[in-house]
Amino acid sequence: MAAFQRALVVANAAGAPESANAVLQRFGITTVATAATPNDALQLLRGQEFDLFIAPMQSLDAVDLAAFERETRRHSTMLVIGTAPVAEADLILRAVRAGVQEFLVYPPDAKELSAAIDRLLRRRGDDGPRGRLIAVYGAKGGIGATTIAINLAFSIARLVSTGRVALVDLVASGGDVCTLLGLKPAHDLSLLASKGDALDAELVRATVTPADGGVWVLPSPMDPEAGESVTGDVVQALLEQMRTSYAHTVIDVEHWLGERSVAALDAADEIVMVTQLDVSSLRRTQRVLTVFRRLGYGDDKVRIVVNRAHDADLLSLTDAREVLFAPIEFTIPNDFRGCADAATRGRPMVLSAPSSGVAAAVTQLARDVAGLPTNGKSGAPLRATRLGRLLRRTS
Ligand SMILES: Nc1ncnc2c1ncn2[C@@H]1O[C@H](COP(=O)(O)OP(=O)(O)OP(=O)(O)O)[C@@H](O)[C@H]1O
Ligand SMILES: [Mg+2]
Repeated sequence: MAAFQRALVVANAAGAPESANAVLQRFGITTVATAATPNDALQLLRGQEFDLFIAPMQSLDAVDLAAFERETRRHSTMLVIGTAPVAEADLILRAVRAGVQEFLVYPPDAKELSAAIDRLLRRRGDDGPRGRLIAVYGAKGGIGATTIAINLAFSIARLVSTGRVALVDLVASGGDVCTLLGLKPAHDLSLLASKGDALDAELVRATVTPADGGVWVLPSPMDPEAGESVTGDVVQALLEQMRTSYAHTVIDVEHWLGERSVAALDAADEIVMVTQLDVSSLRRTQRVLTVFRRLGYGDDKVRIVVNRAHDADLLSLTDAREVLFAPIEFTIPNDFRGCADAATRGRPMVLSAPSSGVAAAVTQLARDVAGLPTNGKSGAPLRATRLGRLLRRTS
C-alpha cells in the first residue's frame, strides 16, 4: 500500500479546516501543510513530497495551470483534488488536464471530501491490512444491541485515527440504524444481495453511506421483503469484503440465530453479547452461550456486556457471572433520557453527550475491542442476591 500520510491544502480549499483535518486524519494523514495561495503550494511541491494535494482551481490562469500540471506530473503518486465554487464544465476540463483527479464544489463538506478521498484510494487500489469484525448480538429483542453497536462504531472512529470504521445493519427485516442516525441512504444491503458473485469491495464501497463522525454505514434493506435475499452466503461474502476496506467493522446482528446471524457470528473476530440483569435476559444469555460453545466459539471471542445497569437491579453482576460461568467486564448504565435524546437528534451518545455515563462505558468497551489500553473496565458493585441464588439453582 502506497504511503498516505502527508497532505498539502491551499487556503481553505478542503472546506472548514477543523472538519477537513478530521476527515484527513481518519484516512491516516498525519501531517497537513497549508499554503496561502496556489503559487505558494507549487513552491512547496518543488521541495517536498506529499501524498494528497487539495487546491482551488478558479483562480488559476493558463500559466498557473501549466506550472500546476508540471508538479502533478512530477509527483506521479500524489492524489489531487481540485475545488471551485461552481462546477463549470470548462473549468473541470482544464483542472483534469492539469492533473486533478477529483473535483469538488467549494466549500466541500466533510462527507463530500471523505467520499472523494475514498474514491481516489479505491482507484489507486489501496486496500489496507485485513480489518477486524465486531458482531454485536442481543440476547433477546429490545435489549440495547443497536444502541451499543452504533455507539461502539462511532467511539472506535473517535479513538482510532488510522483506518476507516464501518457499521453494518444486518437486521435484514427492518433494521433501525439509519433511523437512529437520521440517514437517508441511496443504497442498502439488498443491492449487494442482488449482485451475487459480483459482490466485491468496490461495490460495497459504492453502497455505504458516510455519516458525520467518521463511520461508513451499510444500511439494512429499506424494503423488509428484500431482506430475504440476504442469505448466509451473502453475509459471508460481504463481511470478507468489509475486512479489505475497513479497519473495524461493527455489525448489528439479528437477535435470533438464523443463517444470517450465524454467518456473521462465525466471521466475527469478537462478539459483544448484550444482556441485562433480569431473569429472562440471563436465562436467554445462558442458552445462547451454550450454542456459542457448540458452534466452537472460544470464550475469548465473546465479551458479555450488561446494558441498562441500575442500582435497583434485583440481580447483581456476581449472580450473572455465576449463572453464565463467564466473566462480565463491561456494564453500560441505564440512561433512558440520554438514549431517547440521542435517538431524537439522530446522533449517538458518544458524540452528542460524550461526558455521559453511557458514552464513558462504551468508550471503555471500544478501547478493548479495538485493542487499545483500557483504564480499568466498567463494572457494577459485587453482591450476590437471593434471586440470583434461586436462578443458579434452577439453571
Ligand atoms: N443504556 C440504556 N439506558 C436506557 N435505555 C436504553 C439503553 N440502551 C438502550 N436503551 C433503549 O432501549 C430501547 C431498545 O434499544 P435498542 O433498539 O438498541 O435495542 P435492540 O436490542 O437493538 O432492539 P431490537 O430487538 O428492536 O433490535 C431503545 O428505546 C433504547 O433507547
Ligand atoms: Mg436492534
